[in-house]
Parts: sequence; C-alpha cells; structure tokens
Amino acid sequence: MHLYWIVFFIAPILVDGQSKISTTPLFMRGLWCVAQWSQSSQAYTQTGQAFFYNNDTFTFNFLDNSSFTWINHFVAINNTDGSGGTYQILTVATQGPSQYLNKTLCFWRRLIANGDIVSGRQSNGTCTPTFENDTASETIRYTRNPTTCRLIDDEDTKIVLSSTPFEVETLLPFDRNLPSAKRHGLVFFGSSSIVKWSTLAQDFPDYTTLNRGFGGSTLVQCYQQFKRIIYPLEPSILIIYAGENDIADGQPPIIVQSIFRQLIPTIRRFYPNIPIAYISLKPSPSRVSKMAQMNDTNNRIRNDIALFFREVTFIDIWPDMLLPNGQPNPDLFLSDNLHMNSKGYAIWTKAVTIYLESVFTKRAMHTN
Ligand SMILES: *[C@@H]1O[C@H](CO)[C@@H](O)[C@H](O)[C@H]1NC(C)=O
Ligand SMILES: *[C@@H]1O[C@H](CO)[C@@H](O)[C@H](O)[C@H]1NC(C)=O
Ligand SMILES: *[C@@H]1O[C@H](CO)[C@@H](O)[C@H](O)[C@H]1NC(C)=O
Ligand SMILES: *[C@@H]1O[C@H](CO)[C@@H](O)[C@H](O)[C@H]1NC(C)=O
Ligand SMILES: *[C@@H]1O[C@H](CO)[C@@H](O)[C@H](O)[C@H]1NC(C)=O
Ligand SMILES: *[C@@H]1O[C@H](CO)[C@@H](O)[C@H](O)[C@H]1NC(C)=O
Ligand SMILES: *[C@@H]1O[C@H](CO)[C@@H](O)[C@H](O)[C@H]1NC(C)=O
Repeated sequence: MHLYWIVFFIAPILVDGQSKISTTPLFMRGLWCVAQWSQSSQAYTQTGQAFFYNNDTFTFNFLDNSSFTWINHFVAINNTDGSGGTYQILTVATQGPSQYLNKTLCFWRRLIANGDIVSGRQSNGTCTPTFENDTASETIRYTRNPTTCRLIDDEDTKIVLSSTPFEVETLLPFDRNLPSAKRHGLVFFGSSSIVKWSTLAQDFPDYTTLNRGFGGSTLVQCYQQFKRIIYPLEPSILIIYAGENDIADGQPPIIVQSIFRQLIPTIRRFYPNIPIAYISLKPSPSRVSKMAQMNDTNNRIRNDIALFFREVTFIDIWPDMLLPNGQPNPDLFLSDNLHMNSKGYAIWTKAVTIYLESVFTKRAMHTN
C-alpha cells in the first residue's frame, strides 16, 4: 500500500506545482545519453538514457548489460537560478533499481559549455534550489553526442535506435545539432529522395525548411527514429517520403500500410494538430518490377488517409512521373534510374507547393 500512497499523494503535489512552472525547455527535449564518471576507468561510462517530453514528462532508462530497465518518472522542471542555467527536476520513481524505488528524487541540471548538461541528485525528498554539491554533480553527464551510447525507444525498449546503418553518418550529427537546430519549420523526413533534395531552401523560400532524411531508410525505420530526430524539432508541418525501400526490400504493401497506421498515431500523440503530408511512392525506372506493389501501397495509404487520419494529406506525384504508356519517365531520373534529377524534383516542388497553399487557405478560412 505504501507504493500507492507515494503515487497518489506525491503525484498530485507535482501536478499542482507544474501549473506554476514552465514546461520542459525546448533545448532539453528529446533523447540524451546519460553517463557517469567512473573512478576506475577514469572516463564517462553510460548508465542509461533520458527522454524529455514537451509536457513536463521525463523518462529515464537505466542500462544493464542485457537490457534496459524502463523507469517512468513524472516530473516537474523548475528553473531555479532565474537565468535558465540551472534546473531542478522533481521525480517520482515507482519502478527500477531499488535505490530509486519509493523515493522522491531531485535532479539538478546545469548547462555546460558544449551543450552538454551535468546533474546532481539526492535520493530523498529534500530538494534544494541550487546544486547540492557542485563537485559531486560533475559525475553525471547528459550528452547529445553519444558516440558510444546505446539508445533505445524509451517506451519500447526492444527497439534499439543506435544500432542502425545510419547511426554515425546521419543520426549522430542530427543529435549533435539538436540544441541549435531551427525549430517550428517545414520538416522533410524520409529516405534518400529527401536527403538528395538539396534545393529545399530555394524551392520553398517562404518557409524555414529542415532536411531530416536519412538515405536508404525504410518507413519502419522512420517510425522508429521519429521520437529521436523529429519530435524535438517541434515541426510546424511534416512532409514524409518513405516506404519505397520497404517494398524494394520485399515487404508486402499491407505491411507498409500497417506501419503507416502506427506512424501517424505516434506523431499525433505529440502533435495532435500539425498538418502532415505523405508523398506517394514514385515510379522509379530501376524498380519497374515493383510497380504493381508500389501502386498498391499508394492506394492503401491514400484510402487510409481518407478514412482515418485528420489533417493528413496524400500528395500524389505518381501520375505526373509516368510516360503516356504508363512506364516511369526516365527523363526525371539520374543515371542510377532511382534518384531524381532537377526535373523530377520540380514535379515534387510543384505538388508540395499546391499542398502548402491548401493548408494556408484552410487556416485562413478557420480564422475568418
Ligand atoms: C516500495 O513500496 C512497496 C509497497 O509498499 C513495497 O512492497 C516495496 O517493497 C517497496 N520497495 C522498496 C525498495 O522499498
Ligand atoms: C557488465 O559486463 C561487464 C563485462 O562483461 C562486467 O564486468 C560487469 O560486471 C557487468 N555489469 C553488470 C551490471 O552486469
Ligand atoms: C522553483 O525555484 C524557485 C527558486 O529556487 C523556488 O523559489 C520555487 O519554490 C521553486 N518552485 C517549485 C515548484 O519547486
Ligand atoms: C535527505 O538528504 C539530506 C541531504 O543530503 C540529508 O541531510 C537528510 O538527512 C536526508 N534525509 C533522510 C530522511 O534520509
Ligand atoms: C561534496 O562532494 C565532495 C565529493 O564527493 C565531498 O568530498 C564533499 O564532502 C561534499 N560536500 C558537501 C558539503 O556535502
Ligand atoms: C506527456 O506526453 C507523453 C507522450 O505523449 C505521455 O505518455 C505522458 O502521459 C504525458 N504526461 C503528462 C503528465 O501529461
Ligand atoms: C494503380 O492503381 C489504380 C487504382 O486502383 C489502377 O487504376 C491502376 O491501373 C494501377 N496502376 C498500375 C500500374 O498498377
């Protein structure tokens, strides 16, 4: 019964406190590697990871050798020095290693020069406004450049985010850029057709554009990495191109459809209202043998969007990329017959521009 006492008596106090203090500061949001200074190895070694949500919720995953143990803390975040340099984080742990159970913890976070954060902690409920002990606090470090960090989805600990072929080349640099990345922009997310869209800034001069493509990625990998690389950017509009590689890898259309049906609700948990556009799969000359499956995938996703998903738009570029005989138009492609040249991107730019105009027309009608 003691456990329930903690949950029901401490949690409401924190919820009450949250109404007086700000939500998680933007620069903190998303995934952090947590490492602890080790006297024996004279280096930082990973002890877990932390994920800061935008609504005062924070999860901490402890690392053990075989698996991550998930601990969910509901927290309040309080800037205690008035300058944004030091934050006090109040947590309640009901699962996890025994030293954390049935106790209220206090973390102090302080920004250090390279964007990393250090924290101190004490294991009972007497939180002081500033770092309890500056020396001791240096032993825990939160970092965005976790070269040797094992990162997982904080809620589905079976999904290991850092063991992908894109880790070093793309995802790690995204993590490192997060504190300074532009937010609230038009975010493009997906596979190599997004990565190679190098003219986004010229093509959409009225918007802040952000390219978050990672080449070769599948829709399932986009789904897995969403919280890590898109969520902290707080996109104002999200444009997705992915799914073609899943089909090329031999996945049937119904699987791609089922992943789409998971991806959209995941995005909606965090961003209930932002406009989302899914660009239809393109007909690529090098993948002509998969055209029927790609078309089937497009039909399934188009139907799902019409039936189930509000504020999601299917941008259909398929017909404009075909010759009159129904074959892919090779004039729109580079010599690999897979990636597009500027003529191909001109078709996409036009379709996305029409979509953006429709979004803003709709908004203007709502405000009138
Ligand atoms: C936490 O509280 C629960 C419920 O009272 C109790 O069963 C459990 O042993 C406690 N755990 C620790 C580590 O004290
Ligand atoms: C993790 O593995 C290392 C090396 O095998 C071992 O020395 C250490 O005791 C293990 N730690 C835990 C918590 O199991
Ligand atoms: C936040 O920190 C300030 C400054 O230390 C303190 O006065 C205030 O009580 C704190 N608020 C909460 C909810 O802990
Ligand atoms: C809680 O922590 C403070 C500061 O470390 C310490 O002075 C106090 O004795 C602790 N209280 C309990 C009940 O452990
Ligand atoms: C602060 O931490 C250091 C290193 O752990 C320790 O030697 C010192 O006694 C602590 N100071 C206080 C006031 O607790
Ligand atoms: C904050 O958002 C997360 C993710 O949507 C959710 O799981 C959690 O329950 C929310 N926390 C609160 C306190 O509303
Ligand atoms: C694509 O699907 C549409 C709608 O079902 C159908 O009319 C068209 O013939 C299909 N095209 C190909 C190439 O399979």
